[in-house]
Amino acid sequence: MPTIDLDHLVQPDRVHRSVYTDPEIFDLEMAQIFEAAWVYCGHESQVKEPGQFQTLQIGRQPMVMVRAKDGQIHVLYNRCPHRGVQLCGSHSGNTGSGFVCPYHAWSFHLDGKVRAIPLIQGYEGTNLNTEDPNFSMARAARVDNYRGFVFASLSAQGPSLIEFLGDAKVAFDDMCDRSPVGEVEVVPVCHRVVQQSNWKFFMENQLDALHPSVTHQSTGVSARRVENQIKKTQGSAPLHYHYLSTFASSFDQWDSVQTVNFPHGHGILKAYMGLRPTDPDTLEHEAQLRLAYGEEKAEEYLSRSIHHVLIYPYLSVQSPLQQIRCLRPLGPDKTLSEIWHFRLKGAPEAIYRRAMWYFNLVNSPATMINADDLENWTRAQNGLMSKANDWVSFHRNMGGDTERDGVLYSNNGTSEVVMRNQFKAWRNYMAPAYAKVTVTVTTD
Ligand SMILES: [Fe+2]
Repeated sequence: MPTIDLDHLVQPDRVHRSVYTDPEIFDLEMAQIFEAAWVYCGHESQVKEPGQFQTLQIGRQPMVMVRAKDGQIHVLYNRCPHRGVQLCGSHSGNTGSGFVCPYHAWSFHLDGKVRAIPLIQGYEGTNLNTEDPNFSMARAARVDNYRGFVFASLSAQGPSLIEFLGDAKVAFDDMCDRSPVGEVEVVPVCHRVVQQSNWKFFMENQLDALHPSVTHQSTGVSARRVENQIKKTQGSAPLHYHYLSTFASSFDQWDSVQTVNFPHGHGILKAYMGLRPTDPDTLEHEAQLRLAYGEEKAEEYLSRSIHHVLIYPYLSVQSPLQQIRCLRPLGPDKTLSEIWHFRLKGAPEAIYRRAMWYFNLVNSPATMINADDLENWTRAQNGLMSKANDWVSFHRNMGGDTERDGVLYSNNGTSEVVMRNQFKAWRNYMAPAYAKVTVTVTTD
């Protein structure tokens, strides 16, 4: 086990470049963070029927989320206990009444328990015992569900899911409460992008209000020009032009948006886009919510100030537009991102279409927004290989934020409190609080 001086690498206003580039630090992150914390597996609607499964990565562990006959959702290690072969070879599908290994046909119930082994008499007199869990598929230590969003932790210790989410659980409340029946359903289409950069760049970027008017200037300015032309000739432009033109807001406008930074590294970028237009579809949706929840509750649900919520260290939830991006780190300089979107059950089709516009215009790999961000992160990864300077600066507005009950509110939208708060959480995870491996930490 390497000796890594965490206090030297992560300081209150700067971090050492090696935390983005070093393979040993990456391995520690996987063990201490991703294989210990609650990790998002998927939405329960991805596995509606018994036998339906979805494969995913938790840290370095290949896992499978599956629905059993009794309706329970299990999260199992995707590994045959016989010779190690992965039982599910595709992203999703239906495995029927159980899993069957394609190598030697060992089979397993949907809860992972071994069901049958061919020519079982060949094990007579050996130490193989089908009651021994080592001969069944291993299970994630803990599985829990918040409003249909399924999480698993590979560690038996640590906070409960609800404690882990804390106030950031509003991400899922805000999405589900926009449905008149309080539920969402996944759209079974996922864009998968392999980012050529460390996972932390994405997490930092999500609440980085200084970058949009720089990185996305060309897209924002062009969209604004077209939006204004349409307004001139037709009186109003479709909302999706606004999704892009808002990126051209001034530095001062971005500086007036607030970030809210919670314990565990989670955070919120408050709303900066007008998402309550007065077109007939929106008005119909709002009337539905008033009917379902009453005037007061509906107004509370519709007026939450959220652009997106970060669940550290891997999830960005854009609840008003029903989409999430989930990271699965692959290496210090390689990160898989999954981009999913959802339907609000019972809401007008037009509200779904509105979300899909955002999905396709901003978050999909085909857009100039996502592409420009990816370019920055690749260049940052490459830049941090340079010996020119060992440090990454997070000095902006240091000491200029407001702390209340352990929550940090930025007084300036562009404050780098976001990154400082994420690294505070990172530092806590990397100390051996409730993870399995031992880290030797040396301090000056
Ligand atoms: Fe961006």
